[in-house]
Amino acid sequence: MGKYNFDEQIDRRNTGSIKWDFGIQMKGRDDLLPLWVADMDFKLPEEVIEDIEKRARHGIFGYTDLGESYYGPLKDWYKKRHDMDIQSEWITVVPGVVYAIACGIRAFTKPGDAVIIQQPVYYPFERIIKQNNREVVANQLLYKDGHYEIDFEDFEKKILENNVKMFILCSPHNPVGRVWTKEELTRLADICVKHDVAVFADEIHSDFVYKGHKHTSYITLGDKYMKKFVLGTSASKTFNLAGIQTGNIIIPDEETRDDFKKENEANGFGQPNVLGMIATCSAYRHGEQWLEELLDYLEGNLNYVRDFLSEKLPKVKLVEPEGTYLIWLDFSEVVDDHKQLEKIIVDKAKLWLDPGIIFGRQSALFERINIACPRATLKQAMDQLYEALTVL
Ligand SMILES: Cc1ncc(COP(=O)(O)O)c(C=O)c1O
Repeated sequence: MGKYNFDEQIDRRNTGSIKWDFGIQMKGRDDLLPLWVADMDFKLPEEVIEDIEKRARHGIFGYTDLGESYYGPLKDWYKKRHDMDIQSEWITVVPGVVYAIACGIRAFTKPGDAVIIQQPVYYPFERIIKQNNREVVANQLLYKDGHYEIDFEDFEKKILENNVKMFILCSPHNPVGRVWTKEELTRLADICVKHDVAVFADEIHSDFVYKGHKHTSYITLGDKYMKKFVLGTSASKTFNLAGIQTGNIIIPDEETRDDFKKENEANGFGQPNVLGMIATCSAYRHGEQWLEELLDYLEGNLNYVRDFLSEKLPKVKLVEPEGTYLIWLDFSEVVDDHKQLEKIIVDKAKLWLDPGIIFGRQSALFERINIACPRATLKQAMDQLYEALTVL
């Protein structure tokens, strides 16, 4: 028995939760069990809550810079967990990783320039490129025998054909769950250096890796890849802090960092959120055991879904994840149209998932399920899915 109880079902309704309280606004109904947006239904470790409380009790929330007391725990965490050697001056604190991607796009490309992404991928990538009046170029991941691979030839060809200026990498990859290997990342990095493509590596899911796999941070690939390179990280996924809106952008190359910072400042962003910084460094300082137990719990959830599907719904294929708490289900043996799939998920199963179509056209017959919830919630979701599919 561990120290933490991830089975506890905590009522998140009426807290302004995007996941639990926005059914009417976003789906037109409030009877759906939500396993969509990537936050967790688990409580933070007590030490972190206490640190936030203690700071809140001080009662004054003026402009704040925590200096080394903030950077220290961050650097220790990344060194210990991912073998990354980071210097404090490389870090810029921002309100979030997507915000930083937007800054990166404006810093390293001009309106009309092409930015490449690997679909199916976290849908704000496409949105934020378009909203900044840049062109989206898609390097489709190859889906073969239930597994995703990178199409390197297509990646380079698309870069050349479209004069691509920037690449947004998702590592580990949401939603397909790949934890890219050092060899794969180096091949991508070589192509980007060869064609002078700036790289934003979004590693927000880096702490969620299942047994037998290892996250390689792009920053560890070597100095020759660090020109025009930006690393996006945050404690928000690892410790369920998305609502505190704090991310850490790491840029080793000075000129690249200056270019990024100019865009950040042009947005009018100055000092970060004090409680966000307190929560972030407290979580890195006190949260390791919590995370270890959480990873075991998530592995249990993953095993539960895998067994359930193979026993009861063998036509629904689980794309075996190597990382992330988001799992990717292939319904192509069940339906041949994404509207029909959405009807089954919403009207019959009464589930709120993320439909595959939003991650890219070619994944229209997939659904993404967030398994970072108590097992009882997951069981209920799988039972509802079973009923919906067996009364077709
Ligand atoms: C790959 C990826 N990047 C970024 C984010 C969001 O990060 P932030 O809230 O810091 O903008 C998410 C959230 O799901 C994500 O999956």
